[in-house]
Amino acid sequence: MQQLNVLANVSDSCPLSCSYCYAGEKSGEVMSDEVLARMVELIQGRENVGSTTYIWHGAEPLAVGKRFFESVRREQSRFDHRVRNGMQSSGVLLTPSFADVLVANEINLGLSLDGPNELHNQMRPFRTGGGSFDQVMRSIDLMRERGKKPGVIAVLTKMSLPYLDDMYDFFKSTGLNFKISPILDCGFAEDKGTDLQLTLDERVQAITHLFDRWFFDEQDGHIIDYENMRTLTRAIFTKGGGSCDMMHNCQDAFISVEVNGDVYPCSRFGDFSYGNIFDVDSFEDILAYPLRQQVLGRFDGIPECVACEYNFLCYSGCMHNAYLVGDIMDKDPNCDANRRIYDHISERVLAELERDGAIGG
Ligand SMILES: C[S@@+](CC[C@H](N)C(=O)[O-])C[C@H]1O[C@@H](n2cnc3c(N)ncnc32)[C@H](O)[C@@H]1O
Ligand code: SF4
Ligand code: SF4
Repeated sequence: MQQLNVLANVSDSCPLSCSYCYAGEKSGEVMSDEVLARMVELIQGRENVGSTTYIWHGAEPLAVGKRFFESVRREQSRFDHRVRNGMQSSGVLLTPSFADVLVANEINLGLSLDGPNELHNQMRPFRTGGGSFDQVMRSIDLMRERGKKPGVIAVLTKMSLPYLDDMYDFFKSTGLNFKISPILDCGFAEDKGTDLQLTLDERVQAITHLFDRWFFDEQDGHIIDYENMRTLTRAIFTKGGGSCDMMHNCQDAFISVEVNGDVYPCSRFGDFSYGNIFDVDSFEDILAYPLRQQVLGRFDGIPECVACEYNFLCYSGCMHNAYLVGDIMDKDPNCDANRRIYDHISERVLAELERDGAIGG
């Protein structure tokens, strides 16, 4: 396996209780030094070693403390191996000295920010009450003061629908790279049901509206840094190369390790574990897990997807979405909505190229 992305859940503890969260506060445990050392040893000791990107995740990764991230670099440097480190965090536990540790250890920070103050605070409160917007903005400032620009991720829910333009304008005003991703129907989000979930029509309308805002917008001749629109548009026109839900098999590039060393296909899965890192002798034993071997054949086993005009882009979509509605081996239940979104983007881009005379009318 050449390029590997490891989603490492280092903490089951979190000070927030976001209304949709699939992770959140569980056991309160954090990853031990022993689990960290075994994980790094297996991953960086693998055959056909390429580069590895670790994405430090959780519930809340900062809850594991600064010392852990100093140990990370020590463990990684025992191997002659190219690594990159990223972190996805709520940002509320970031202090100036923790920001120094992240910068010193070259850990790129991504933050969760759901939009302007009112919307963010409604969706992402502390467990003890009160919104977390001010703390996230402070974390952004702490990183900027150190010459870093964190990327931000927003979750799109039914509550966001009246604020789509406000969200777009807000993210644009930050000057940060941003992603806006629709809510997944799992974790707390499952309990909230239709209060937060988007219907397929709402999903299509919201995403195509946001696409149009981005596509027809530019600032000083530069296209705005709206990451998932840029990735999707590029993938449609370069025939592939999108995000994890647009790969021939995401399992060729991703793996997730939990606090206790259990291995999962990705961090979204609450069950469906492949096994545990202490029960194998090598990374090749992880690759050989029977459940992993089974999901590798998913796309090729769905005739409708193999014959689909968007197969090069979608490859049957996210297997976690399929798992949530019944069978991991099925196609993504958002198939119809996704096709309408791909159609919309293709039509917009082609119309623009024709208007500019770049292609014949
Ligand atoms: C589970 S959190 C863990 C890291 C950290 N605590 C944070 O909030 O960034 C990772 C990302 O998943 C998002 N997320 C959580 N539950 C979700 C759901 N049901 N649907 C879509 N995204 C979700 C969060 O907003 C966050 O951006
Ligand atoms: S999204 Fe992140 S910050 Fe919010 S409850 Fe879940 S783990 Fe905590
Ligand atoms: S768009 Fe639908 S049919 Fe086409 S590959 Fe994706 S999931 Fe399969």
